[in-house]
Amino acid sequence: MEKIFSGIQPSGTLTLGNYLGALKQFVELQDDYECYFCIVDEHAITVPQDRLKLRNNIRSLAALYLASGIDPKKATLFIQSEVPAHTQLGWILQSMNYVGELERMTQYKDKSEGKDAVSAALLTYPSLMAADILLYQSNIVPVGDDQKQHLELTRDLAQRFNNRYDNEVFTIPEIRIPKVGARVMSLQDPTKKMSKSDENEKGFISMLDDPKRIEKKIKSAVTDSEGIVKYDKANKPGVSNLLTIYSSCTGESIEALEAKYEGKGYGEFKQDVAQAVISVLQPIQEKYKELIDSDILDDILDQGAEKAAIPANRTLAKAKKAMGLGRVKKKK
Ligand code: TYM
Repeated sequence: MEKIFSGIQPSGTLTLGNYLGALKQFVELQDDYECYFCIVDEHAITVPQDRLKLRNNIRSLAALYLASGIDPKKATLFIQSEVPAHTQLGWILQSMNYVGELERMTQYKDKSEGKDAVSAALLTYPSLMAADILLYQSNIVPVGDDQKQHLELTRDLAQRFNNRYDNEVFTIPEIRIPKVGARVMSLQDPTKKMSKSDENEKGFISMLDDPKRIEKKIKSAVTDSEGIVKYDKANKPGVSNLLTIYSSCTGESIEALEAKYEGKGYGEFKQDVAQAVISVLQPIQEKYKELIDSDILDDILDQGAEKAAIPANRTLAKAKKAMGLGRVKKKK
């Protein structure tokens, strides 16, 4: 069976962008692949985190994965820092990454811009991300559009390692980006990605926002003065973003939605977009409330870490052996 790995950072409550770009695909894929889904807490510490908030975010993310439909009988759900092979292979892969290529990563440039000091881990983040993926011999990595560059670097790194040491060590992964919803934009500035770290809360919909708040945020979403519901990313980024959200939430095509709102203004359209989002998020929120304080969550994460460690340690051992790390014991 082909293998899938993907991860989400526990750096705040997930947004609708995380759901439509990533989580929604994960749920669809778990029936057909051997899936590993990870709470990448070691990635979150590349920027300073408050200890208690991080701990809460880790638990909350685990509950959100499950509430969204990840089934622990089908997929392995675990916390990155509970499987030490991730940082171990991450270090090994740092030795294969060039500083220049890491400095060229858009995410690094964005996050370090204007800062006096950033952590070394922020720079070497892609080596750890490559380790996450390569440890599981992943064939496919489902992500949103913003992770494309990191995925391309992962592929280069795997190829570089295999060429230098042994072609059998790493599987070269393919990237999978959803056709609709790969890049959900901010509601306040539709030229910017919707992000959980946005200072303006009106720019993003949190997966735990209540229906009233969702409605309010969508009603105040920036559009244009044309009054025509049409997909045109360059000239109508706000309306195009709402069409994407609507289409991704309901499965209706963008063309069908354009036809449905022909001759109608933005008022009715926005009302329906809000309703579509609420219909998706409300059932998830209800399950989330049941899960967040339950013991089941700990059992699932314990079992997940145990299960993930098996293939992860196997690949780590292969990589170490190929490089000459450690020793080969003398036969007695
Ligand atoms: P993170 O935590 O920023 O985001 C998790 C997933 O959500 C997607 N996403 C979006 N998709 C559509 N529209 C948006 N506005 C939007 N914002 C976020 C992201 O593309 C991602 O798929 N580096 C990763 C975490 C990671 C990882 C990995 C992913 C670590 N190791 C290995 C895949 C494989 C990150 O920071 O994602």
